Amino acid sequence: MNFFQFLKREYHSMSQLDFIVKPGGTLKGQFRVPGDKSISHRSIMFGSLAEGVTHVSGFLQGEDSLNTLRAFRAMGVHIDGPSADGKVVIQGVGMRGLKAPAGALDLGNSGTSMRLMSGLLAGQDFDLELAGDRSLSKRPMKRVTDPLAKMGAKVDTAEGGKPPLKIHGKQKLTGINYQMPMASAQVKSCLLLAGMYAQGETCVTEPAPTRDHTERMLTAFGYPVARRGSASVCLQGGGKLKACDIDVPADISSAAFFMVGASIAKDADVTLQHVGINPTRTGVIDILKLMGANIELLNQREVGGEPVADIRVRSAPLKGVHIPEHLVPLAIDEFPVIFVAAACATGETVVTGAEELRVKESDRIQVMADGLQILGVDAQPTTDGMIIRGGKIGSGKVNAHDDHRIAMAFTMAALRASGVIHIEDCVNVNTSFPGFVELANRAGIDIQGKSL
Ligand code: S3P
Repeated sequence: MNFFQFLKREYHSMSQLDFIVKPGGTLKGQFRVPGDKSISHRSIMFGSLAEGVTHVSGFLQGEDSLNTLRAFRAMGVHIDGPSADGKVVIQGVGMRGLKAPAGALDLGNSGTSMRLMSGLLAGQDFDLELAGDRSLSKRPMKRVTDPLAKMGAKVDTAEGGKPPLKIHGKQKLTGINYQMPMASAQVKSCLLLAGMYAQGETCVTEPAPTRDHTERMLTAFGYPVARRGSASVCLQGGGKLKACDIDVPADISSAAFFMVGASIAKDADVTLQHVGINPTRTGVIDILKLMGANIELLNQREVGGEPVADIRVRSAPLKGVHIPEHLVPLAIDEFPVIFVAAACATGETVVTGAEELRVKESDRIQVMADGLQILGVDAQPTTDGMIIRGGKIGSGKVNAHDDHRIAMAFTMAALRASGVIHIEDCVNVNTSFPGFVELANRAGIDIQGKSL
């Protein structure tokens, strides 16, 4: 890590932001939430390795995807933007055109950058180090380094399989047939990206369907990807990517906060524009509909290989449900706000099969249960989920533990609270949802960001 990266990290860990959210309010209007985080990351990675110039629109200008962008710049890729309206232009360097960066790459809070890049960079000709912030430095990396080692990669972790990752270049990779022990799009993508640099075929089989943006975008960039049955995806090493244009839809994971907010608030009516509705991401719509939500998909269309729609949501009485386990990986990032929906529903909601929530940006089972209990909700954490009995939401001080999605979930809870909700440690909302406070205010929530 160089001196400026060190300063940036120290500054980031010192700067603090709390949200003070007044109770009540409603949500009204038509608006577009920021670009999809998963697609934004991949647009930079594939555009950089492609031959030719890739134009991206709707790029997420959040810290996570900007960290990916900076990392590829540091490896010699010329990238213009993002402009104020989210346009990015990438001069691709080809599969073998990346250069060794001057120091460690600081990926901030972004697990997606670290896991995908560990695969993509394992087959390069240079050594490098991938580092992250306090939260990322606690997240498990053996789930990628173990299968990468089977392919012949040499990636060292810190103690306990945690970041930073030290990747040794000049390794000869060989394709593998890998059965993933957990449903993870990050692990699947990491291995497919390493597979592009490996000899022979790489096949990844998943225990349950996970987001398929990597497969779709590789296909858009002209790299052949074969699906075998419903659970396996395979590619041959040694191919090439050809530049193409990417239109990033609005992120359904960011839209989800307003979908729940509009369901639980009184007299709400919002239309979320141009949202990605890839079927591997729409678990939150299915779950909310099971709970009785009033959600309509309007103007459905396809943009650059990804389905999109405008999503209209109006207030509706929600009821508790046992969430079907097959929907869990399809809504994995939305559980913090789904727990808030459950707290406002009549009856009991049971979540099982969601142990992956414990290794996200925070332990989302424990952190949400702690916060909901502070607000007077009957929320019992279990090893792999939570049992929530819906009822009244009180007021109080909760902690987001530097986790963007926890901060935004508790913001929505205020729509039904009896008093002010003070949410500590919200600075990382900027990783996925720049402008959240302004947009939430415009839509009808009385929220104030307080820097400490
Ligand atoms: C992501 C995959 C998910 C998700 C993360 C983004 C991706 O992680 O939680 O926010 O872009 O591939 P897992 O695949 O590890 O569940």
